[in-house]
Amino acid sequence: MKKTLILIFIGATIIACSPKTGELITTESAPITFPTTELANGFELYKANCANCHKLKKEMNYSKEKWAKILPRMAKKAKLNAAQEKSISDYVYWRIAQK
Ligand code: HEC
Repeated sequence: MKKTLILIFIGATIIACSPKTGELITTESAPITFPTTELANGFELYKANCANCHKLKKEMNYSKEKWAKILPRMAKKAKLNAAQEKSISDYVYWRIAQK
């Protein structure tokens, strides 16, 4: 009986400490079909430049208005050029407009 309880405790600890899947970006699990190669490129740039300092942020967690303030700030941090910044913002705005 005691053994079972210990096992349950260990099991619960392992589950509690495993990475939270909710944090993972949805785009990683479900493949997205991009209507244009520009948007696909923007997504690649997003993945390549926006997960260096923190985990890739979930696009849907921010409104368009929020992104409009955040993106220029982050573009500076990520040292993006104007074209890369435009590509990433096009991608993000397209993504959050998807259902
Ligand atoms: C040089 C490091 C660095 C890079 C590169 C970077 N970020 Fe950030 N980011 C931060 C830090 C630090 C914070 C938290 C403090 C803050 O909000 O400024 C943050 C916060 C954020 C937030 C939350 C802002 C909020 O107000 O809640 C979002 C969204 C975000 N980053 C998106 C991006 C995107 C998109 C890119 C790629 C263009 C990117 N980040 C690249 C350092 C970085």
